[in-house]
Amino acid sequence: MADGDRNSLPTRRGVLKGGAASLTAGAVVALEERPVAASARAGLSHAAPAEPGAALAVDLQVNGVHHALMLDPRVTLLDALREHLMLTGTKKGCDHGQCGACTVMLNGHRINSCLSLAVMHDGDAVTTIEGLGHPDDLHPMQAAFVKHDGYQCGYCTPGQICSAVAMLAEHRAGMPSFVTEDLRATRHELTDAELRERMSGNICRCSAYPNIVAAIRDASGEIA
Ligand code: FES
Ligand code: FES
Repeated sequence: MADGDRNSLPTRRGVLKGGAASLTAGAVVALEERPVAASARAGLSHAAPAEPGAALAVDLQVNGVHHALMLDPRVTLLDALREHLMLTGTKKGCDHGQCGACTVMLNGHRINSCLSLAVMHDGDAVTTIEGLGHPDDLHPMQAAFVKHDGYQCGYCTPGQICSAVAMLAEHRAGMPSFVTEDLRATRHELTDAELRERMSGNICRCSAYPNIVAAIRDASGEIA
């Protein structure tokens, strides 16, 4: 190869230097252009972002009572009920969706309130154990739990009762469970297997399960 040809070939060092220079230049252009282009498109000045964790307004209908709250968006529905509305009947067991102690009814459907953020429920109707009945006027499910000793320490009981009330509504509406044999049927017999499966999200560490099943079965006739 002639000397002139060798001098005109790119060297490895030259290629790396050139590549680095063009990459750096590209990055500088991108860094300089992107904010200007974005703010120009949006027609905005460089406003400060919202404070992380700034309180948000949320309206909750809890047990038929309207509550206008300002809440940190990280507050769970469970903590909003217990810490902000002082409705401590709903219990915190695991705080991550495994025990069912925090079960409430949201627009008639049971949910684990520890797994849901309060600000997601603006305008929603929440029913807690306090909204089902009172000591001098018990809901049939509450009365059945008392009649059948459906508890020992009682910590899981509010969640069990809220879950059972919503579970019976699901069953009456024809919703199948994991153990339902005929998924096309609109009515299913509430066998013990069905009842236990449908209540399997509510754990009782005292193992009062036989009495809980008896209470729910007893109440199911009255509620129906
Ligand atoms: Fe919510 Fe355990 S406290 S599931
Ligand atoms: Fe104690 Fe259920 S009665 S955890």
